[in-house]
Amino acid sequence: MKRIVSGIKPTGTLTLGNYLGAIKQFVKLQQKMTDCEFYLFVADLHAITVRQVPHELRKRILDIAAMYIACGLDKDRTVLYIQSEVMQNVELGYILQSNVYMGELERMTQFKDKTAKNETSITSSLFTYPALMAADIILYDADYVPVGDDQKQHLELTRTIANRFNNHYGDFFTVPEPLIPEVGARIMDLQNPEKKMSKSDSNEKGYITLFDDPATIKRKIKSAVTDSIGIVNYDPKNQRGLANLLTIYASITDRKIEDIVKQYEDSNYKQFKEDLGQAIVDVLQPIQEKYNAIVKSSELQEILNNGREIATNYAFKKMRKCKRKVGLGRK
Ligand code: TYM
Repeated sequence: MKRIVSGIKPTGTLTLGNYLGAIKQFVKLQQKMTDCEFYLFVADLHAITVRQVPHELRKRILDIAAMYIACGLDKDRTVLYIQSEVMQNVELGYILQSNVYMGELERMTQFKDKTAKNETSITSSLFTYPALMAADIILYDADYVPVGDDQKQHLELTRTIANRFNNHYGDFFTVPEPLIPEVGARIMDLQNPEKKMSKSDSNEKGYITLFDDPATIKRKIKSAVTDSIGIVNYDPKNQRGLANLLTIYASITDRKIEDIVKQYEDSNYKQFKEDLGQAIVDVLQPIQEKYNAIVKSSELQEILNNGREIATNYAFKKMRKCKRKVGLGRK
């Protein structure tokens, strides 16, 4: 049986970008790939690479866990767990740090972006983050890893690390394949379509969160940056903001961009934006209702306990063999 593994970091709030680039893909894959196992987790250890407020972090961890279920993942077919509750993740993360080079880590865009901004408080765990991410994936012998476009580079490094380990110690880890959606892999900021929609962004008008109410969603779409051309057309070079809105529209409704463009060929941006706002509300409202019903439930706690047990079981056996391969311990 093939295994699909992916995670989300509980920093800031979940955005429409996380939904369209990642969670919605998980749900679609689960419906399509009925012969696959799904290991999905909340990447809380990754969150503390930058300073967090403890009680807020703890709340966001449960928020993400609840959202996975609220967005439509089948709890009976998902091993849902919290990264820090499976200690083997950290153990392998450390071993993989010894199988990745400084130069490779220095080339990671996320790290380069931070250093380019002359940030002085970059932690050493932010630097070594890709080794832990590789561990999250190969510890469970993931065959496929569905992610948005921004994680492609980390996935390539994960493959390099897995191959390097296998070449040195003999075949041991499955080398994972990234799965990047054709539409929605990179949702851009609504106010600045040059940069990706991000939950750590400070301008609230630039992103839609999965918790926004209908009026807020519609307002944010209405004020999204477009252009003065005034014709609904998919032209990412000259109409970047509009192209992003069309991508969101296509991705959230599972329609083709060409069909949407055709629908609005005699229309204007106002009508297009009103309909898009409504389409997002139609999807997010039932998700929010489900989220509210589950987030404080004992059912969610049971799902997470069960997930921790299954993930730990797998990880424990894999790590015992891994340490033997590397020559650690006594036997
Ligand atoms: P994170 O938490 O930043 O994002 C979670 C997922 O959402 C996708 N995503 C987007 N997709 C489209 N448009 C956007 N604007 C957008 N913003 C975010 C991301 O690509 C990702 O798939 N390092 C990872 C978490 C992680 C992980 C892993 C993922 C840790 N270990 C192992 C996969 C496998 C991260 O920071 O994602």
